[in-house]
Amino acid sequence: MDSDFEIFLVTAPGLEAALCDEARDKGFAAPRTGRGGVSVRGGWPEVWRANLELRGAARVLARIGAFRALHLAQLDKRARRIPWGEVLRPGVAVRVEASCAKGCRIYHGGAAAQRIARAISEELGAPVAEDAPVRVLARIDDDLCTLSIDTSGEPLHKRGHKEAVAKAPMRENLAALFLRQCGFTGAEPVLDPMCGSGTFPIEAAEIALGLSPGRSRGFAFEHLANFDAAAWQAMRAAPPGPAPGFRFYGSDRDAGAVEMSRANAARAGVDGITAFRCHAVSALAAPEGPPGLVIVNPPYGARIGDKKPLLALHHALGQALTARFSGWRVGLVTNEAGLAAATGLPFAPPAPPVLHGGLHVRLFRTAPLAG
Ligand SMILES: C[S@@+](CC[C@H](N)C(=O)[O-])C[C@H]1O[C@@H](n2cnc3c(N)ncnc32)[C@H](O)[C@@H]1O
Repeated sequence: MDSDFEIFLVTAPGLEAALCDEARDKGFAAPRTGRGGVSVRGGWPEVWRANLELRGAARVLARIGAFRALHLAQLDKRARRIPWGEVLRPGVAVRVEASCAKGCRIYHGGAAAQRIARAISEELGAPVAEDAPVRVLARIDDDLCTLSIDTSGEPLHKRGHKEAVAKAPMRENLAALFLRQCGFTGAEPVLDPMCGSGTFPIEAAEIALGLSPGRSRGFAFEHLANFDAAAWQAMRAAPPGPAPGFRFYGSDRDAGAVEMSRANAARAGVDGITAFRCHAVSALAAPEGPPGLVIVNPPYGARIGDKKPLLALHHALGQALTARFSGWRVGLVTNEAGLAAATGLPFAPPAPPVLHGGLHVRLFRTAPLAG
């Protein structure tokens, strides 16, 4: 296979531009936003590096081939001509998933997947299994079948440090991109006053230390034919940077959430620069030291039910921040503009909506709060 192909970085719709920025910052070639992700170019070492270093990607797909297919027999024949052995190993099981866009002459994803799976198992000898560690994805659009390998395996928001998860946790890759959209680069303190399992402070601390998000986990690409274990070990052995002179704070009124955050921070190796406390937002005070960023996703609004307690919670949050956080910027992620408005904080117009856990959420941001 080519040493320069398309690598597609999947992310939540609405965050493509933020991920594109991150890819550019991290030196990936020719980043371009598309629907639901960003495409960059590179070879297999860039695929590994994307999995290792990109905080905002949900998964990394390597485009391994494309051909036109007008009917299933043609799909079968052309799928057999793909040099599968350059990418897959005969002894490693694969799973194939296919989807067809409207208007394609091949319109049945299941039948297409079955033909490709059979081609792989008969041409290469790789077994096909539901729980296979490697997934081949086929997308048929305008009668063009594009084949990709999901090189990540488990979605990338699973950094490999979190055992304990609170209710409605923020996915790590979204948290990282929201931090980026708030202008966070690792050079200021961060505080989340409703931290749940600690996602925002832990991501922020890792960014400040220059840690790679994928440093502790495994990836599907380790099962591929072109995997070079020695080169990969060298790539992921990059040492962390020096600790900053400030901290990353989380608080929550739920004692269990605070314990969870501490345990998650310890597993991520950032317990030295994070601090978690148990109290309600009404008791919130700015930490000693320079101002930074408050970032929070309060409980989301439900479509039905009593909104009063949620509005009161947002009001209390806004009051605490207005009274005690002069000089700090605020980023608030919510699914209802009315809840953001209830804080009384001077938010700029929100960022585009992002699909998270079945809800459309938006990031509301302020400039540094006045004294
Ligand atoms: C949507 S969750 C935050 C999830 C978190 N960002 C994470 O990734 O795990 C909202 C959190 O707000 C906390 N909370 C609700 N009311 C609160 C209050 N009055 N003061 C402090 N925390 C509160 C809940 O305990 C819950 O952990």
